[in-house]
Amino acid sequence: MKRAGLIVFTIIFSPLLLARAQNVDIPHSEKRGAATQLVVDGKPFLMLAGELLNSSSSSLDYMRPIWPRLAAIPLNTVLTPLSWELIEPREGQFDFTLLDGLIQDARRNNLRLVFLWLASWKNGMSSYVPIWVKENPQRFPRVLEKNGEPVEILSTFGQQSMKADARAFAAVMHRIREVDGEAHTVLMMQVENEVGVLGDSRDRSPAAKRAFEGQVPKELVTYLQQHRDSLLPEFRRVWESAGSKLAGTWQEVFGSGSQTDEIFMAWNYASYVQSVAAAGKAQYPLPMYVNTWLAGPHASPGEFPSGGPLPEVMDVWKAAGTAIDIYSPDIYATNFAEWCDRYNRAGNPLFIPETHGGTTGQANAFYAVGQRETLGFSPFGIDSFVDKEREKLLDPNNDLGRGYQALLDLAPVILQHEGRGEMAGFLLDKDHPQTTLELNGYRLEVRLDEIFETQAQSGFGLIIATGPNEFLGAGSGFRVSFSLKNPGSALVGIGSIEEGTFSDSAWIPGRRLNGDENDQGRFWRFVSQRINIEKAVLYRFE
Ligand code: DGJ
Repeated sequence: MKRAGLIVFTIIFSPLLLARAQNVDIPHSEKRGAATQLVVDGKPFLMLAGELLNSSSSSLDYMRPIWPRLAAIPLNTVLTPLSWELIEPREGQFDFTLLDGLIQDARRNNLRLVFLWLASWKNGMSSYVPIWVKENPQRFPRVLEKNGEPVEILSTFGQQSMKADARAFAAVMHRIREVDGEAHTVLMMQVENEVGVLGDSRDRSPAAKRAFEGQVPKELVTYLQQHRDSLLPEFRRVWESAGSKLAGTWQEVFGSGSQTDEIFMAWNYASYVQSVAAAGKAQYPLPMYVNTWLAGPHASPGEFPSGGPLPEVMDVWKAAGTAIDIYSPDIYATNFAEWCDRYNRAGNPLFIPETHGGTTGQANAFYAVGQRETLGFSPFGIDSFVDKEREKLLDPNNDLGRGYQALLDLAPVILQHEGRGEMAGFLLDKDHPQTTLELNGYRLEVRLDEIFETQAQSGFGLIIATGPNEFLGAGSGFRVSFSLKNPGSALVGIGSIEEGTFSDSAWIPGRRLNGDENDQGRFWRFVSQRINIEKAVLYRFE
């Protein structure tokens, strides 16, 4: 990549710019009934995305052949790392060559971007800070762990670190507004990456020790008082079992276990990250989120980054500020639905920045969209699905792409029905072969598809109630039977089933499905050989 000369950058806090920041045309989130939607250029937008491998976007040349392959999957959004070390290689001197180029190249390929601000922390560690930060631990102090060894993790107690990170992030947001304030290629920002102390449950540097032995800050206590009844149960339990105190040291208020160390670190990471995000938002207020390294079963804080926004400390993050809009899970565990459900609570919208792609991702995307009305879905390492040299997809079945294509076709209908209780999504397998949905006065028994002794091994899909007696469904490997939610004398029959697709939001019908394809009128079937979009019209009879 050719680098233009370094640009010496001064942040101008212009009141005019801040006034424009209120402009509702900027990509923003909006409540719609129970759902939260991302609104881009006045319309809701569903991010069917993928996240690049960590180092791909450090070179414009490396990325150039990859963009069109990503667009062909098809994706509409790419989660793209942007590191502090490359943006501010020398203190106070900002180089936006890479940032500008990534935006231009994504735009050329009709792709939107979410930038990942890899700065003070990435997977708990601090490898993405510029060299002038790495070399100066006096000014930018490190975490100290139990064994007394300093580690390459910036301490949240480094005020200078926070200010330097916030200044660089503000410069980035200022630049994005300059080059993208009209086109809106950039939709959201991830602030840092999977933060938290690794290797110990808390920072034991002198400043951290003093804070840990001091009083719990007033802001957190006030939050506890004001949100007593709506605290997430995992957090509330800890506070209540220590006596629901409203004053005292960390151990007095939350008890003496390692969960208190995690709460303490959550407060300190949250305060730092909220300040960085707020500095960026003052320049250009795109929606901002943080992502989370999830704890495995029985793992203790320090085995996973202690202080990241896990469900048990999400309230602590909210108490520390409001600049972060979304707390996001990176879901690599097999209990995908459970993690979606745990994050999509207490007003937190779901956005999944990292997860598996392929066949697993294909199915999970339907659950996240249909059941949890996610803002977006994004398998990690999306460029490992494409071969840079041979310019083709490595996954010959392109399972993720086939799922994304159906969801992209359906996106206008999905977005129109979000937030109204008119949509549901599901994942089925041998251990969970069926589920019951209630939509629009009907009860839907959804189970693994079978016909003539052949049963699907797994199934996934989403169903939308599109009219009083009409449903739209998409997915694979399931079948549905209908009854009335409040049973009277009427029975429910299938009037017709059509497969089809959408073009510019208009339904283009394909085959009329009957006979074996609806088990002689008894079931609405989605065979496991492909992903189908189908419309079912019901009728009632006595
Ligand atoms: C989670 C991190 O957030 C990513 O940047 C990457 O390191 C993946 N883990 C690798 O699985």
